[in-house]
Amino acid sequence: IIYDIVALTIGYLLGSIPFGLLLTRLAGTTDLRAIGSGNIGATNVLRTGRKDLAAATLLLDGLKGTAAALIGASLSPEGGMIAGLAAFIGHIAPVWLQFKGGKGVATFLGVLFGLNWPTALMFCAVWLSAAGFSRYSSLGALTASAAAPIALFALGHTAEALVVSVMASLIFYRHRENIARLRAGTETRIGQKA
Ligand code: G3P
Repeated sequence: IIYDIVALTIGYLLGSIPFGLLLTRLAGTTDLRAIGSGNIGATNVLRTGRKDLAAATLLLDGLKGTAAALIGASLSPEGGMIAGLAAFIGHIAPVWLQFKGGKGVATFLGVLFGLNWPTALMFCAVWLSAAGFSRYSSLGALTASAAAPIALFALGHTAEALVVSVMASLIFYRHRENIARLRAGTETRIGQKA
């Protein structure tokens, strides 16, 4: 149990590092909170016009999830799931930002890479096709997130499927404004001016 608590703490602390906010502040771009969706994630960093910073945000917000899952897995059999979930929660509710964090997509993908890489690759394929056809980042995220627990379950990873379905549900919850905009036809497309 002590190792699980360590996994939880490390996971949360890693997950709560808001790379999008840190990188854009260092680069002195427009304040993320004031543009587009106001979110701190890679999709909104792209709306500052800095593709390089958006790519770095996606990578680092993802890698912190992978790192958490791998460190956790080295501590206890269930540690990967605990630290991965904690990193995801850390990203969407970081104590440093009064718990107002991101929507969790990059970190979700990173945790998937740490828990079961084939499912992570499937997530990328689903995201790329859904977002590629629709040009909606949020639609790609929602479709791929819903598919991930199903894939894990089909592969026989029942415990991981349960934990990942909790994360996918939180992604849907965090995207409720995006879902409303998608339904109203007012969601911003990738490459469209915010
Ligand atoms: O990962 C977040 C993405 O799905 C939507 O981002 O900024 O358009 O709300 P945003």
